[in-house]
Amino acid sequence: MITKGQLENYWIENEQKFKDIIQNVPYQKKGIWYTEAFLFCSICDILKVDAIIESGVAYGCSTEIFANYFDFNIVAIDSDQYDIFSDTSKRLEKYNNLSLIKGNSFELIPNIIEENLDANVGIFIDGPKGREARRLRDNLLKFNNISCFGFHDYSGQNRTDIGTFENSFITHDLEFIYNKFNVLNDKVIETVPKNAKRPLGPGVCVEIKI
Ligand SMILES: C[S@@+](CC[C@H](N)C(=O)[O-])C[C@H]1O[C@@H](n2cnc3c(N)ncnc32)[C@H](O)[C@@H]1O
Repeated sequence: MITKGQLENYWIENEQKFKDIIQNVPYQKKGIWYTEAFLFCSICDILKVDAIIESGVAYGCSTEIFANYFDFNIVAIDSDQYDIFSDTSKRLEKYNNLSLIKGNSFELIPNIIEENLDANVGIFIDGPKGREARRLRDNLLKFNNISCFGFHDYSGQNRTDIGTFENSFITHDLEFIYNKFNVLNDKVIETVPKNAKRPLGPGVCVEIKI
């Protein structure tokens, strides 16, 4: 059981690591906000996750943060809706702990987990969205080596469509992130129009399964 206090302490202890990663990883359009990625990474770290499978790479902002944060293997899948998979793969080829795969996560993720049943897996879903993100998670519940699921764009209709979980942490509901750490998003906020619908970011929810 992770408590809010434990999470906040983890963030205070790892603030320098967060800042170093922000220095290394340029923000990419359509990308996750830094604090959103760090919520998923911090929970994976506390749960001793040793493999991450991501669905939805696009320009690779979240993917690159994960590859910097951890030494272990990150598998990142994208169906290439924006026709940029090859450019993103080239940009990220310097990471030895990263495998990028083009395809549909509904088909690929179950096979990857079948082949890695000894791993302690964290799943991050940033495409598909909403109900389809929930369906992808529901299809994977049969695997008991998944410790957590992260969902990006957990706000508005997407939040309603993904639904709620028995045990979860949500960036928009964690006041310590906004009171103490929102400055970590400065690079992103510079790119957001002043009248943006979501001044606190699109939001991440991390469901904990164990
Ligand atoms: C918002 S973008 C991801 C942004 C990225 N996580 C970041 O932080 O930079 C969503 C991506 O999800 C991909 N996608 C949508 N449905 C998918 C599916 N079923 N399987 C794999 N990728 C999918 C799209 O091709 C698109 O590139």
